[in-house]
Amino acid sequence: MSQRIALITGASGGLGQAVARKLAAGGWSLLLVSRQADRLAEAYGADHLQIEADCSTVDGARQIFEHANVHGRIPTHLAHCVGNIRLGALHRMKEADWHACLDANLGSAFHTLAAFVGNLREARLPGAAVLVSSAAARIGTPNHEAVSAAKAGLEGLVRAAAATYAANAIRINAVAPGIMDTPATTHLLNNAALREVTARQYPLPGIGDPNELAELMAWLLSDQAARVTGQVWSLDGGFSTVRPLVK
Ligand SMILES: NC(=O)c1ccc[n+]([C@@H]2O[C@H](COP(=O)([O-])OP(=O)(O)OC[C@H]3O[C@@H](n4cnc5c(N)ncnc54)[C@H](OP(=O)(O)O)[C@@H]3O)[C@@H](O)[C@H]2O)c1
Repeated sequence: MSQRIALITGASGGLGQAVARKLAAGGWSLLLVSRQADRLAEAYGADHLQIEADCSTVDGARQIFEHANVHGRIPTHLAHCVGNIRLGALHRMKEADWHACLDANLGSAFHTLAAFVGNLREARLPGAAVLVSSAAARIGTPNHEAVSAAKAGLEGLVRAAAATYAANAIRINAVAPGIMDTPATTHLLNNAALREVTARQYPLPGIGDPNELAELMAWLLSDQAARVTGQVWSLDGGFSTVRPLVK
């Protein structure tokens, strides 16, 4: 079998790096995207094809595939790991923060997925994508209004696109984690008391590990998930569906 090619966006981030490690260990060829080339070089040295682009814009997303195609590498699989966490009560959220949240979490997903499926259709290839939502898209969580709205939009995008492109044998799914230990949450988990309180909010107490989510994402991209599309898979210690037992 020829080597499978996966595109990872947000590859400089905590989850992006975990997915890259997992797929590389499985023999995948990787295309890695960040808005800053030096962040990729710092994380990966000279390994893999590295692309500097801003996938939250239409042009930036298109550039990724032009670059990949020039190198003769058509990505048939996508792990979209871009996002940010802008927390704050609705009445206090600044317009700039709202737009930054939408661009990072929903705009990037929309434009990257559009360019990905467009490229696959031109090449007449099947493929699979996995995007990243959040537990907060499913359950009301204080101060998460902006990110909940953006991630709920992402989940709608995943279901609609899965329906549209099933006929092209392109599978599209999402994962929905609770809080994970990554650079995005350093400010939320930077002392033992905060970590303890946060961990206890989960019916299965704890802080998520991006390597666990990477396992699930790799499975969704694999042929073992060949019959799975249009799904949102939670990995949140029961946070979005189970009430903890209060003693
Ligand atoms: N960590 C958590 O607790 C948690 C919980 C629920 C969901 N998530 C989701 O998990 C995914 C991965 O997050 P992470 O925890 O790995 O965070 P992270 O370490 O901050 O990585 C996110 C990456 O996204 C890229 N990015 C951010 N804003 C962008 C924008 N406007 N346009 C393009 N790229 C942008 C950044 O890469 P460059 O700056 O190098 O371009 C960054 O490295 C995100 O979708 C996040 O919403 C995380």
